[in-house]
Amino acid sequence: MSQATNQSWGGRFSEPTDAFVARFTASVTFDQRLAGQDIQGSIAHATMLARVGVLSDEERDAIIDGLTEIRGEIERGEFEWSVPLEDVHMNIEARLTQKIGITGKKLHTGRSRNDQVATDIRLFMRDAIDSIDSELSRLREGMIGLAEREADTIMPGFTHLQTAQPVTFGHHLLAWQEMLARDHERLLDTRKRVNVMPLGAAALAGTTYPIDRHVTAELLGFDRPAENSLDAVSDRDFAIEFTSFASILLMHLSRMSEELVLWTSAQFDFIDLPDRFCTGSSIMPQKKNPDVPELVRGKTGRVYGHLMSLLTLMKSQPLAYNKDNQEDKEPLFDAVDTVLDCLKAFADMVPAIEPKKESMLEAARRGFSTATDLADYLVRKGVAFRDAHEIVGQSVAFGLKEKKDLSEMTLEELKQFSDTIEADVFEVLTLEGSVAARNHIGGTAPDQVRAAASRALEALKAHREAK
Ligand code: ARG
Repeated sequence: MSQATNQSWGGRFSEPTDAFVARFTASVTFDQRLAGQDIQGSIAHATMLARVGVLSDEERDAIIDGLTEIRGEIERGEFEWSVPLEDVHMNIEARLTQKIGITGKKLHTGRSRNDQVATDIRLFMRDAIDSIDSELSRLREGMIGLAEREADTIMPGFTHLQTAQPVTFGHHLLAWQEMLARDHERLLDTRKRVNVMPLGAAALAGTTYPIDRHVTAELLGFDRPAENSLDAVSDRDFAIEFTSFASILLMHLSRMSEELVLWTSAQFDFIDLPDRFCTGSSIMPQKKNPDVPELVRGKTGRVYGHLMSLLTLMKSQPLAYNKDNQEDKEPLFDAVDTVLDCLKAFADMVPAIEPKKESMLEAARRGFSTATDLADYLVRKGVAFRDAHEIVGQSVAFGLKEKKDLSEMTLEELKQFSDTIEADVFEVLTLEGSVAARNHIGGTAPDQVRAAASRALEALKAHREAK
């Protein structure tokens, strides 16, 4: 195509746009992804214009039919995108005019690309949030299900990655679930501020036509029109909020991934991931690598990057619209795609985790994980906690020398350190006794884990029904 001046705004120009500048300033290579939302917004706009008498019903119908045909062309991959036409908005409008003639040129009455693009992105983000909402629900449901099945499975709990106290695997999974429940709240909270309509702000100050923004808002399913026209065209807080949500979510998925990677190693040997989530090595035939969690961990970086891009994009912009805003799309699109892919990977993978119960139990048995239980036992018998701590420390030192866990020592051996210790001590030194004793809300006792899992499932169900 020749480098003619763009016909949508070329009126006041005396020379054509520089070829490089045209390419540099164009966004159509990436914003064509907003085509569906752009057409949806235009149909609502035309409908409203007809309702207030700015367009005739015939004009409205011609516009809607034309746009509907264009939607088909785009879906079938027949639409010819033009870089000289700059962006998705002008590509679609030019095609409409080509199809229906002069009436196509009336569509842009009372609107600007500034309020148009802000509306398109919000519609896109609303759809994206709704898909993420479903995928996050699916992941949480699978996680809660696994937690319920593994409510009695004992594993070592860690602090500083050193064996600390025994916990149940179900309890560990429900800790993950809590992280995701908070992410879910953040997502839905963001949606409230996404679902506000900029359309009608026009370029920055509003428009002289007798538009009815409540009509357009209702047609598009927005909660309300944005209050202030200057803010409406310039605000990208919702994009920053979304990428903040996404960054925190990916941080959580990355932590979970890290644990999955550790647990599948021969050194931990806590779980097996089905072969379909792993890949082999081209040189080492014995290898089965946890690629999916590793990749999720790796993808966290790009999402943090998008958050930084958007924060920096906005930090020095004066009101109202600036071309800088065109840079909001690629980070947002990639953040959405990455979040959806990572959630899908996790939602498919988590219910398929196969815990190696014997191996987890064995690991909990090593590492004196019931030392705190012994100290608590002594305290119950009247020993001060600090003295109890000292007594147990000496017992552990003895165990390390003799290569014996506390539960494997004889009563005589234990009595060397305190004659308060009686035969009933073995009830607390077992792993089962240790976890069962933490029997309060939020504790790791299997009964508590089962109760917590059913509460979590109820909350999730309530959310789904509220939709
Ligand atoms: N492609 C532009 C964007 O993404 C659309 C709005 C352009 N507005 C303008 N006044 N140049 O932000």
